[in-house]
Amino acid sequence: MEIIIRENRQVASEAAARVVARIVREKPNAVLGLATGSTPLTLYKELIRLHKEEGLDFSEVSTFNLDEYIGLEKEHPQSYHIFMWENLFSQINIKPENVHIPDGMAVDIPASCAAYEREIVAAGGIDVQVLGIGSDGHIGFNEPTSSFASRTRIKTLTQQTVADNARFFEGNEACVPHHCITMGIGTIMDARMNLMLAFGEGKADGIAATVEGPVTAIMPASILQHHPNAKVFIDEPAATKLQLAEYYRWVYDGKPEWQKDA
Ligand code: F6R
Repeated sequence: MEIIIRENRQVASEAAARVVARIVREKPNAVLGLATGSTPLTLYKELIRLHKEEGLDFSEVSTFNLDEYIGLEKEHPQSYHIFMWENLFSQINIKPENVHIPDGMAVDIPASCAAYEREIVAAGGIDVQVLGIGSDGHIGFNEPTSSFASRTRIKTLTQQTVADNARFFEGNEACVPHHCITMGIGTIMDARMNLMLAFGEGKADGIAATVEGPVTAIMPASILQHHPNAKVFIDEPAATKLQLAEYYRWVYDGKPEWQKDA
C-alpha cells in the first residue's frame, strides 16, 4: 500500500487525478471504476478541468460505478446515475454507451449483477478503481462482514451508513433506501489499481484501521493491504491516527515527480 498524505483535500485530489490522467493518456480505452459520495467530488472536478484545459480525452474510456440504491429510478435526484452525470459525465467527452452503473430497478437483480460482472470482464477489467471509505470501513457498499470473495450483489446497508447518507436525502433517514447493489470485494480486488481517497478527521479511525490494522472482514477496506497496487490519498486530518505518518510523508516526498503519478 502506498499512503499519500497531502495538506488538504484539493492537493490530495489533484495528485490522485494525475494518476488517473496518466492511465487514461497511456491507455485511451482505459476502464475506470468510479465511486459516488462527497469524497471523489474534488477528484472529478480536477478530471473535468484536465479535460477542458488540457484536452484529457475520455472518448474511448469506459466506466463502471461501484454501487446504486435499489428502488430508485435512474431519474431520481439521489440516484447514483444522476450523481455521476451531474458531477462528471456531462462535463467530459465520455460516450453514454461506455458508462455502466448498476440498475437499482432491475426486475431480476441477481441476473443483472451477474451481467455487470460479465460486462467488466468483457471491457478488459478495471484499470483503476476509485474508492471512498465509509465511517464503518465499507468500500463500495460492502458493509462490515462482507465476504472478501464477494462479487456484485445485493447488500443491506448498516444503520450507520443509512444515517451517514441521510445528508444526501435532505437529512431524512426514512428516505434512504436500505438495500443496494454493490460490486463485491472480490470485484474491487480484481482492479489493476485501487485508488482510495479519504478526507477529514471523521475518516481518521477508518484509515488507521485500513492501513495499519489487522485484515478483517469487520473493516472491509483493510483487504486493500492484500492488493498489489493500492494507493491511499488522504489529507492531514484523515492521517492523524496513523502510527507511521512520518514515514509515509518521507517516502512520497523522496520520490521523483514522474514516479508520483505512476
Ligand atoms: C459510494 C461508495 C461508498 C462511499 C463511502 C464514503 O459509491 O462506494 O463506499 O465511498 O460511503 O462516502 P462519502 O465520500 O460521502 O464520505
